[in-house]
Amino acid sequence: MKADRVVIAQQGAPEVMQFETADLPAPAEGEVQIRQTVIGLNYMDVYQRSGHYAMNLPSPLGLEAAGEITAIGDGVEGFAIGDRVVYGGILGAYAGARNAPAARVLQIPDEISDEVAAAALMKGMTTEYLLERTYKVRPGDHVLFFAASGGVGQIAGQWGKHLGAEMIGVTSGSENCAAALDHGYAHAIDRKSEDIVARVKEITGGAGVPVVYDSVGKATFETSMACLATYGLFVSFGATTGEAPAVTPSQLQHGGSLYFTRPTLADYAASRADLEHSSGRLFEMIRAGHVKININQRRRLSDVVAAHRDLEAGTTTGSTIFTP
Ligand SMILES: NC(=O)c1ccc[n+]([C@@H]2O[C@H](COP(=O)([O-])OP(=O)(O)OC[C@H]3O[C@@H](n4cnc5c(N)ncnc54)[C@H](OP(=O)(O)O)[C@@H]3O)[C@@H](O)[C@H]2O)c1
Repeated sequence: MKADRVVIAQQGAPEVMQFETADLPAPAEGEVQIRQTVIGLNYMDVYQRSGHYAMNLPSPLGLEAAGEITAIGDGVEGFAIGDRVVYGGILGAYAGARNAPAARVLQIPDEISDEVAAAALMKGMTTEYLLERTYKVRPGDHVLFFAASGGVGQIAGQWGKHLGAEMIGVTSGSENCAAALDHGYAHAIDRKSEDIVARVKEITGGAGVPVVYDSVGKATFETSMACLATYGLFVSFGATTGEAPAVTPSQLQHGGSLYFTRPTLADYAASRADLEHSSGRLFEMIRAGHVKININQRRRLSDVVAAHRDLEAGTTTGSTIFTP
C-alpha cells in the first residue's frame, strides 16, 4: 500500500515542506494502521519545520490526527478495525494514512467528531496539565494567559473560567480581544495598544497574578515577570518569538520569591495513565459544554505551506485543521 505524506529534507521556511508518495507497510507489532480523516495544526509543527527544534532529517512532519483503524499489528489489544481514533505527539501526522504505536492512540468518544478530536487533543491536553497540574488553578485566582485568542488560548480561557478563575487574556487587536472575552476571559488586554503590566496591576488591585502562562517567550519575558505577585509562578510553555532568556536566581529573588518552570506536554502525557487522564478530562469538558472547540481555519493538506505562514504571522484564531 502507498500513502501521500509531507516530508522535509531540510529545515527552514514553509516551502521546505514537500509531498511524497511512500510505501506504507503492514503495521508492525504494537502498531495500528490509521486512514486519517482530519489532521491538526500545532505551533510545534512550525518549530520542527523552521529549525527551532533539532530534527533527524529527512523527516515526516505533523503530530496530531484523527481517523479510522484499518489494520492491527500483533500484540495490540483494545482496538478493532473501524474504530475511530485520535493521537497527538507522533511525528508523521501530515499524511493520508500511517502506522502508529497503539500505546499512544486513543478512542474518540461517540459524541465527539473526528474534526473536534483532531482540533482539540494536543491543545486541550496542554490546557489540562497547565491549569490543573503545573499550577492548580483555584476559584478566585487571577490568571494571566498570552495568545488568548489562539488555539490553546481559547480553550484555556473557557477551562479557567470553569475552574472559577478570573482569566486575563493578552491578544492583539479589537477583534481578537472580543474573541477572548467570548471564550472565558473576564479581561482582554490588547498587546498592540495597551500597557500589559499597568492593566494587570489595575485588575489585581496592585498585587499582580499568582501565575502567568507565557507561550510567547523572548518578547514578553520581562512583561510576564513584572506581572507576577509574590511567590508567583512563571509558566513558560512556548517560544513563538524565540526562547525566553535564562533566568537567574537573583531575578526570582528580587521579583518576589518567584518560581519558574518550562513544562512540555511530552512529559505530562508520557505515561499511558497520564495520557488517558489528560485526554479524559478534555473529552469530559467538551461533552459537558464547558469548552467549545472553534475550528476557524479548514484547509486541504495541500495548502500546508500557506497554513504555516498564517499561523506564524498570527493571523489565525482558534484551531486549524486539514483534510488529507
Ligand atoms: N509546552 C507545551 O506543552 C505546549 C503544547 C502546545 C502548545 N504550546 C505552545 O502554545 C503556544 C500556542 O500554540 P497554538 O498552536 O495554539 O498557536 P496559536 O496561539 O494559535 O498561535 C500563536 C499566537 O501567538 C501570538 N503571538 C505571535 N507573536 C506574538 C508576539 N510578538 N507577542 C505576543 N503574542 C504573539 C499570536 O496571538 P495574538 O496576536 O492574538 O497575541 C498568535 O496567534 C505556542 O507557543 C506553542 O508552542 C506549548
